[in-house]
Amino acid sequence: MTWDPSVLPTQHGKTFVVTGANAGIGYFITEQLAGAGARVILASRSEQRADAALAALRIRVPGADVEFLRLDLADLDSVRAAASAFRELDRVDGLIENAGMVHPPSRRQTTAAGHEVVLATNLLGHFALTALALPALARTPGSRIVSLGSMATRLSSFRVDDLQLETAYNGWRAYAQSKIAVQSFGFELDRRLRAAGSAVASLVAHPGFSISGLSPRIPGVNEPSVGTRVVDTLQGFAAQGKDRGAWAPVRAAIDPNAIGGQFWGPRFQTRGRPALARATSTSSDPAIGARVWATAEELTGLRFNP
Ligand SMILES: NC(=O)c1ccc[n+]([C@@H]2O[C@H](COP(=O)([O-])OP(=O)(O)OC[C@H]3O[C@@H](n4cnc5c(N)ncnc54)[C@H](OP(=O)(O)O)[C@@H]3O)[C@@H](O)[C@H]2O)c1
Repeated sequence: MTWDPSVLPTQHGKTFVVTGANAGIGYFITEQLAGAGARVILASRSEQRADAALAALRIRVPGADVEFLRLDLADLDSVRAAASAFRELDRVDGLIENAGMVHPPSRRQTTAAGHEVVLATNLLGHFALTALALPALARTPGSRIVSLGSMATRLSSFRVDDLQLETAYNGWRAYAQSKIAVQSFGFELDRRLRAAGSAVASLVAHPGFSISGLSPRIPGVNEPSVGTRVVDTLQGFAAQGKDRGAWAPVRAAIDPNAIGGQFWGPRFQTRGRPALARATSTSSDPAIGARVWATAEELTGLRFNP
């Protein structure tokens, strides 16, 4: 099927929740879904930054049906509060688990609950949100969960027995491991949903190499310096804007032909139109998925049985 990311099928009457929607790829996912007529809820940790995104959306998408929901993924109390608001929604056609700590601290840091902060933000918060919000998704026929993976999963080994990097922490490894765990969770979730006979589907999408200096300037949302624009333009042969980085997750969320368990990404790996991609064997391994799931259950204290 040909798919034109600039002419999306109408999403009128549908509702999506996008985590980390105030900035970067999450902002553009929101803009594209709202532009197709959907109601979109911006799940963000800062009301001020979300307000800037809401203001931009209302200018760039006349009539946009968008609103804010507070969510700090690194705080399980905040996740619980967001999930209970989520369960009040009449319908949820898609949950796009986009938020991520992409610039990890150089020294290991932990959340108030004692969890390594990159894993807590990228995996544990989304795991808990999914577990607690699933009833709202299950009420909506054909609803989907889309997790944001990364090409970084190809560049790192995976220490499934030390997901919190209690030994030999470094920021790059923390990010790459968290993204392998996120992909693993997304695929394992789909296997468990299928086994349970659920109509909810879980897909994984990655945005290639998407950078702010190649993205549209949006006041309060994306205002790269001249230096960033210059450096990013030099990388243009291999990179794309975050507006284009949004294409694969949006397609995973709304293409009527997309199905659970698929992995979507840019056609030319780092850039391009959205196409089916192949995930690493580690992230699609059911045995590893089961171990990631068990660790997430243990750390969040949530038994999650779809
Ligand atoms: N850009 C790429 O080339 C690339 C490549 C592979 C994968 N990805 C993935 O794509 C996703 C988006 O990346 P991006 O480049 O758009 O990053 P970004 O511009 O840094 O945006 C990250 C978003 O996540 C939010 N966030 C971070 N920590 C949070 C928390 N504790 N609770 C709630 N929200 C939180 C941020 O909110 P604040 O504004 O409050 O910080 C922001 O809205 C990430 O999952 C990333 O791993 C990106």
